[in-house]
Amino acid sequence: MSNRKMITAALPYANGPVHIGHLAGVYVPADVYARFQRRLGKDVAFICGTDEHGIPITIRAKKEGVTPQQIVDKYYGIIKKSFEDLGISFDEFSRTTSPTHYETSQDFFKTLYEKGKFTEEVSEQYYDEQAGEFLADRYIVGTCPSCGNDGAYGDQCEKCGSTLSPTELINPKSALSGNVPVLKETKNWYLPLNDYEDFLNQWIIEGHKDDWKSNVYGQVKSWLNDGLKPRAMTRDLNWGVPVPLPNAEGKVMYVWFDAPIGYISFTKEWAEKNGKNWKDYWQNENTDLVHFIGKDNIVFHCIIFPAMMKAHGDYIMPSNVPAFEFLNLENDKISTSRNWAVWAHEYVADFPGQQDVLRYALLSSAPETKDNNFTWKDFQTKNNSELVGIFGNFINRVAVLMHKYYNGVIPEGNASAEELAEINKAAKEIHQSLEKYEFRNALTALMNLARFGNQYLQTEEPWKNIKENPEKAAHSLFISAQIAVALGQLSEPFLPFSSEKLLNMFQVERQDWATLEEANILIPSGHQIGEATLLFSKIEDDVIDAQIQKLENTKKANKMTNPDAAAAKEEISFDDFTKIDLRVATILEAEKVEKADKLLKFKVDTGVDTRTVVSGVAEHFSPEELIGKQVMILLNLAPRKIRGIESQGMFLLTEKPDGKLTFVTPDEAVKNGVQIG
Ligand code: MF3
Ligand code: ZN
Repeated sequence: MSNRKMITAALPYANGPVHIGHLAGVYVPADVYARFQRRLGKDVAFICGTDEHGIPITIRAKKEGVTPQQIVDKYYGIIKKSFEDLGISFDEFSRTTSPTHYETSQDFFKTLYEKGKFTEEVSEQYYDEQAGEFLADRYIVGTCPSCGNDGAYGDQCEKCGSTLSPTELINPKSALSGNVPVLKETKNWYLPLNDYEDFLNQWIIEGHKDDWKSNVYGQVKSWLNDGLKPRAMTRDLNWGVPVPLPNAEGKVMYVWFDAPIGYISFTKEWAEKNGKNWKDYWQNENTDLVHFIGKDNIVFHCIIFPAMMKAHGDYIMPSNVPAFEFLNLENDKISTSRNWAVWAHEYVADFPGQQDVLRYALLSSAPETKDNNFTWKDFQTKNNSELVGIFGNFINRVAVLMHKYYNGVIPEGNASAEELAEINKAAKEIHQSLEKYEFRNALTALMNLARFGNQYLQTEEPWKNIKENPEKAAHSLFISAQIAVALGQLSEPFLPFSSEKLLNMFQVERQDWATLEEANILIPSGHQIGEATLLFSKIEDDVIDAQIQKLENTKKANKMTNPDAAAAKEEISFDDFTKIDLRVATILEAEKVEKADKLLKFKVDTGVDTRTVVSGVAEHFSPEELIGKQVMILLNLAPRKIRGIESQGMFLLTEKPDGKLTFVTPDEAVKNGVQIG
C-alpha cells in the first residue's frame, strides 16, 4: 500500500457560502479521512480551494449587481474562514484565479493542443443579440425534452437529471435577458471523449468493480454504456481562463476543464511553500489519489478529468472517487436560491465552541449510500444523548473520580491484553471502515467504545470498592483511564476540538494509530492529569426552537417572493410610459352578462366620464360586492366589443396566492379621475 495520499475535496463555487449539505457530503468526511491518514503516518496532501470561474459566478454577480471578481473575493474569504472554523484541515486552500492556476491550466491546455488531442469544431451556438453574448450552459433556460420541466438549463435538467446541450431545449430563452436567442456560428475546441471509452472501461469497469462505491461505479457504467461524445472544452465567455492560443480571442476554458486542474495548481502552491515536490503527488504511480465529491460531480471526476489526464500523459489516475449523495434539511431539498440551508458561518456564530457537534451530527447522518436528512431535533438528540450522555459523561466520570480518589494521579495498575481488547477492536474497526469510506460505521465503532466505558464503570463500581477493596477500585480506574485516553486518541479525526481538549485534560500527546491497534498502555501509573472539564454541554430547547423558527421565517419569506415569476419584459422609454392613461374610478353598477359565465358588465365613474367596461371576473366576484368599489382603470385602451357590448377600458387586477383575482385599489379613498403614475 502506498505511503503517499493525495486527497482532494471538490472545489466549491465562490458564488455563495457553504452549507451543511456541502459539509456532510464532501468536506467533513474528506477531513476525517485526511486526518486519519496522517495518523497512520502517511505523507498526506489535502488540497482544496474555490472554483471561481463558470456561469454560477457570473450569474451571482449580475444578481448582486457587482463584478465577478468582487463576488469571488467576497466568497473566497467567507468559505475559507468557515472551513477553518470547523476544523477542516486543508494543507492548502487556494483559488482558481491565482496566477499559478492560470499558468498550470494554460500549460495543460497547450500540451493537449500540441499533442493533437483536441478537435476543432465550428458549430451553431445560441447567442443573445441584446446582451451581445453567446449563451452557454446555465445562461440558457428552456423546456427539458425528457421530462417537460420548463426550468431546465442548457447543460442539465435538475428535475430529471438528464444532461443536455442547449440546442436540445424546447423554447430556449436567454437567462440574461429573457429574449429568444439566435443561432450563430462559433469555433471551439473539443475533447473527443469517445476516444477514451476503451481506457475508461478497462480502468474503471474492469478494474474497480469491487473497490469503488456502487453509486459511483453504476453511474460511470451507465455513461459508458450510452457511449461518449466529443465535449467542448472552451466557451465564448468573458469570465474564465483565456484559451492560450493565437486567434482565440473571447474564448475561455470550460470551467470543468480548468477547475479540476486547480487540484494540481494548488498542490504546486503548497509544495513550493513546504519544500515538497508536487510531482510526487500527481505523477508518481506510488501515490494514492482520492477525490471526495458530491454525486453531481461524478461524471467530471470519473470520465472527463481522467480523460484529460490520460490525454496529457504524465498524470496518475485516482485510486478512488468516493462520492456522496445529498443531504436534505428538515425533509426538504437544500437550496441556496430559496435560502433553505444551515450556513456554515451562521452555525459557527450561533454555536460558538460547538463545531464538533455539527461534525458529529453530519457524520452520523452522512449521505453515504442514499440521500439523508438533517433535522434540528435530531441534532439536539445527538448532542444531548450521545455526545453529552455517553461520550462526555464517561470522560467526566473518569476524570472526576481520578481527582477524588487519587488527586488526579493515575493509580498503580496494569492491564492485560484482554482488558485492552475493546480499545484495539475499536481502533481496528475505525481503520477498516475508513479505508472503505464508511464514515458512519467508523463513528459507531468510536461511540461503542464510549458505551463500553460506561458499562465497565457501572459493573466495576469503583465508588463502592474504594473503601473495602481499594486495589480493585484502583485497577478499574486504571483501565478506565486507558479507555478515556483511547477515546481522546481515536476521536481526533472526527471530533478534533474535543479530542484536543480531552488529551489536554489527561496531559497526553497524540500518538500514531498503529499503537492503538495493539495492546499498549496509553497512560501510565503515576501520570498526573489536569483539571476535569466538560467536553460537551447540553443544548436546550430554546436554542433549537430559535433555529427552527429561523427556517420557518425563511419559508414565509419564500412564500412572499415568487421564484416562478415570469421574466422581466423588454424595457420601455419614459415616453412610452406616459402614453398610458391610468386613473382611479368608482364602480357604479355591476351585472352579469347573459350566457357568459365569466363576464361582468360595469358602469364606472372615471372622473372624466361614465363608461361601460366588460371584464372577465364573474367567477371571482359577485356583482353586488363590487358596487361602490374604487378601482384602477386603463382609460385609453382602444374600445373592444365583447359579446356585443363595447368595453371602454380595462381594470387592473392581480392574482392572489390561491389563484383568485383581486382588484388593484388605492389604499385610501381618492377622487375619481386621479391619475396614476
Ligand atoms: N465547483 C464545482 C461544484 O460545486 C466542483 C468543482 S470540482 C473540480 O459542483 F474538480 F472541478 F474542481
Ligand atoms: Zn428533465
